[in-house]
Amino acid sequence: MILDANILKKLPKTIILEIDKQNNIIDCSGQLIDKRSIKNNNIKDIFNFDSYNKLIALKEQQETTVTIQCHTKEYEVHFIQESDQNNIFYLYDITKYSDIQIQLKQSLNDLTSKKEELQAVFDLAANGISILDKDGMFLYANKFFQDMMGYTMEELHLESCISLSTNKYTQASKEAVKKAIKHGSIQNFRKVCITKSGIHINAKMSLSYLKSIGELVMITSDITEDIQYQDKLKKQVEIEVAKRTEQYEVMCHQSRLAAMGEMIDSIAHQWRQPLNGLGIIVQGLRHLSNQKDFDFELLKEIETEIMEKITFMSQTIDDFSTFFRITKQKEIFNVLTNINDAIRLIDVQLKANNINIDINIKNNESLNILGFANEFRQVMLNMIHNAMTAIIDTNQKNGLISIDIDSNKNNTYITIQDNGGGIKEEYLEKVFDPYFTTKDKGSGIGLYMSKIIIEHHMKGRLNVKNEKNGVQFLISLRQG
Ligand SMILES: Nc1ncnc2c1ncn2[C@@H]1O[C@H](COP(=O)(O)OP(=O)(O)O)[C@@H](O)[C@H]1O
Ligand SMILES: [Mg+2]
Repeated sequence: MILDANILKKLPKTIILEIDKQNNIIDCSGQLIDKRSIKNNNIKDIFNFDSYNKLIALKEQQETTVTIQCHTKEYEVHFIQESDQNNIFYLYDITKYSDIQIQLKQSLNDLTSKKEELQAVFDLAANGISILDKDGMFLYANKFFQDMMGYTMEELHLESCISLSTNKYTQASKEAVKKAIKHGSIQNFRKVCITKSGIHINAKMSLSYLKSIGELVMITSDITEDIQYQDKLKKQVEIEVAKRTEQYEVMCHQSRLAAMGEMIDSIAHQWRQPLNGLGIIVQGLRHLSNQKDFDFELLKEIETEIMEKITFMSQTIDDFSTFFRITKQKEIFNVLTNINDAIRLIDVQLKANNINIDINIKNNESLNILGFANEFRQVMLNMIHNAMTAIIDTNQKNGLISIDIDSNKNNTYITIQDNGGGIKEEYLEKVFDPYFTTKDKGSGIGLYMSKIIIEHHMKGRLNVKNEKNGVQFLISLRQG
């Protein structure tokens, strides 16, 4: 409540009542009631019963001062005995003073309740709040702070925010207090505090300097649990990462095994024909050796034929071994060459199943890509192998795998489209999941690995959709 300063300007005048022995008013200065003269009246007739009694008590010196009500006003009365005959009452109009007093009382009540409110906020706060002097000594600390540090308020009076820091932070704490005084405040100062029972707690504090009273307010939060939680989380992440790396390596290994399995199948097919051919030749040789006239011309032809078959077989083995050679460094490679390398590995199987591959280069701005060529071949082989199995499984008589290569200045796009009937819509989202397979002997790892190779190792994109009578994979790669 704000005091009305005007009240002070309207200070009352004093009324002086001179009375005789019989309490008759002999003289009166100032006005008691309006402008009516009260001269010659007995005070008994002027004042009410209660006030009259008080005045008499005053006169008989039972009281040194009394307060009386007269009409709407309140008077503080003093009494002086001048002589036997003359006595004087001094009446001070304190109506305004009592207004001020009421206002003051109200203000005081307001202040007290505000103080109580503030105290409640301090005590209920889930943070340590303390008031420090300029040296950092505790003047006050809320309940939370006392509980946090294990000290009572009396004990805290003998401590400072510096003495409650661990040795390592003594200097920093001193500087923090100085800094707060100099700059008005400091925020989020971190340190390790030591409780009464010697426990170390990680604390975060903010200091604010109250210049007018030369004190500091310090808010302290215990962040030990946060830090422990963060550490735990960090460790968990490390473990998770390690697990994932391990899992990832296992998967890389599995994918290579799966690809190898698919390729051994290919080798079997690739070799079956030349091996059969060689068998027939060997039989023919015996027949040749039985002849009287040794036909050297024929022998030469046979030799060429044997060499062709052996070259083909050794080429196949070379292809396979290159396929599995791990390139550690990224290199610039030609996508077309590597697509052809992948096709060669599976060519015999494709032909045996009457599946044609149609490569179409729309724009050969740049077919050179930076990355791991063998990984790219692995992706392509898996795509073609998947297309081939789909075509075989759906008994498609005229199997066709179209590979379109398109490129502009920055990107190279490869689409692999087959006519093997497509993927069930509900599986479309799952085909890149590890171990997802619809095949009896499938590993379900080919597309998962392909996605990782294209998107993580080569920073490209690999997407799938059903298109025409089959599946279309789109590989987008950035050059360089
Ligand atoms: N071209 C395709 N046509 C139809 N289904 C396909 C094709 N490519 C992949 N799929 C589906 O995606 C699944 C996962 O393929 P992949 O990861 O290579 O594993 P796997 O070949 O061992 O099954 C396959 O089992 C198949 O259901
Ligand atoms: Mg596969």
